[in-house]
Amino acid sequence: MQVGIDQIGFYTPNKYVDMVDLAHARNEDVDKYLIGIGQSQMSVADQTQDAVSMGINATQYLPQIDREQVGLLIFGTESGVDQSKSASLFVKSALNLAPEVRTFEVKEACFGMTAGVMIARDYVRLHPYHSAIVIGSDLARYGIGTSGEVTQGAGSVSLLIKANPRILTLNDGHSAFSQDVNDFWRPNNSATALVDGKYSTQVYLDFFQRTFTDYQKLKKLQTSDFTALIYHLPFTKMGLKANRLAIADQDEATSELLATNFTTAACYGRVVGNIYTASLYLSLLSLLENSILPADALIGLFSYGSGAMGEFFSGKTVANYEKMLNPSGTKKLLQRRQKLAIPEYERIFTTALSDPIDGTTLISDEEAGYWYFAGTKNRIRQYRQK
Ligand code: HMG
Repeated sequence: MQVGIDQIGFYTPNKYVDMVDLAHARNEDVDKYLIGIGQSQMSVADQTQDAVSMGINATQYLPQIDREQVGLLIFGTESGVDQSKSASLFVKSALNLAPEVRTFEVKEACFGMTAGVMIARDYVRLHPYHSAIVIGSDLARYGIGTSGEVTQGAGSVSLLIKANPRILTLNDGHSAFSQDVNDFWRPNNSATALVDGKYSTQVYLDFFQRTFTDYQKLKKLQTSDFTALIYHLPFTKMGLKANRLAIADQDEATSELLATNFTTAACYGRVVGNIYTASLYLSLLSLLENSILPADALIGLFSYGSGAMGEFFSGKTVANYEKMLNPSGTKKLLQRRQKLAIPEYERIFTTALSDPIDGTTLISDEEAGYWYFAGTKNRIRQYRQK
C-alpha cells in the first residue's frame, strides 16, 4: 500500500511588500535583495491573521476532505498562539472534524511540519482507513531594519495524507541529523526571532550535505536518479546554494534538470517569503503547479529547522497528479494581495506584534469566506469567518 500526499491547500495573507521598495527604504542595492537574497516580495500579516487563522484558511479549501475518515490532525508551527492549548483544536472546531480525532501541535522550528508529515505517514500505514491532516503555519518576523527583514513572510500549507494518494507517494525511510546549536531561536518573551544569520546558513548547508549523502547511501541512489530536489526556503538564495552543492560534479543533463526544477520550485517562495514550517511544502506546490512531471518522478525533499534538525526524504509523483491541483487558484490568491507602501507596512507589522486589548473586536479586510482572528474576550481567542 502506498501512503502520501493526496491534497494540498495554501493560504497567504492579503498584503505584501515589494523588495525594490524595501531596498530603497533601507538604503540597500536593489540587486542585493533581488539577486543576492533572491526575494522579490514578502507577504505581510496584519493583526487579524495569526498561525491559527492562516492554518484554517489553508485547510478549508482542500478540495475533498472526507471528514469521517480524518483520524489525526497535526499542527506544526513556531508562531503558536498559546503555551498550552494546541493550535490544531481551533482548526478542528472551525472545520467540524469528529470528536474522535487525535490532535496536537508540534514544534522544532521549521522542521515542525515535516515531523507531522512523518508521524502522519506512519499513522496511515497502520490505519489505512484513516487519513491525516498536517498543517504548517507561520509568520517569519525578524523586525524592521534588521538584516533578516528581507527574509520575512507569512502563510500556511495544509496536506491531506492518506492511502493511495493522488499527488505524491512518500517513500519509506529518511536520513535525519540533529545537533544542539544556536543559529536561530525565539525566546518566549519575544515576538521576533533572534538569529546568527551567517552561521545559520552554514549550518543549513552542512545539514543538507550530511542528510543528502546519508540518504543516497541508505537508498543506494545517485543524484541523477532524482527529477527534482526541493528545499526548505528561508530565502531562495539559500536553497540555490544547497542545490549548487548537489549538482556540482554531475553530468550536464542532470545539472540542467535539477537547476530548472529548483527554479520552478522556488517561484512561490520568492514572492511569499519564509513561512518557516510550511516553506518546504510551498516549494513542492510551486514545483508541481508550474511544471509537467512524468508519473513516478523521484522528488527529494530537504527539511531544515534551526536549533537544529535536518531531514532528507523522498516521494514519487502519481499519474495525473495535476488534476488535484489548482494553479489558477494559487495565482488568484497571490494576485489579490495589496501592495503596501513601506510606512504602512511598518505600521501594520508593529501593530501585529501584539494582540489587541482584551475585549476589542478586530475587523478583517479579507475576502468573504476566509477566517480571521477577531481579538480576545476574557482572554479567550476568537476566530470568525468573514
Ligand atoms: P546580510 O548580512 O544582510 O547579507 O544578511 P549579505 O551581506 O550576506 O548578502 C547577502 C547576499 O547578497 C550575499 O551573497 C552577497 O554577496 C549578495 P552570498 O555571498 O550569500 O552568495 N549581495 C549582492 N548580490 C547582488 N548584487 C548586490 C549585492 N550585494 C550583496 N549589489 C542573511 C543575509 C541571510 C544572513 C540575513 O538576511 C538573515 O539573517 N536572515 C535570517 C536567517 C536565515 O534565513 N537563515 C537561513 C538558514 S536558517 C533556516 O533556514 C531556518 C529558518 O527558516 C528558521 C527556522 O528553522 O525556524 C530561518
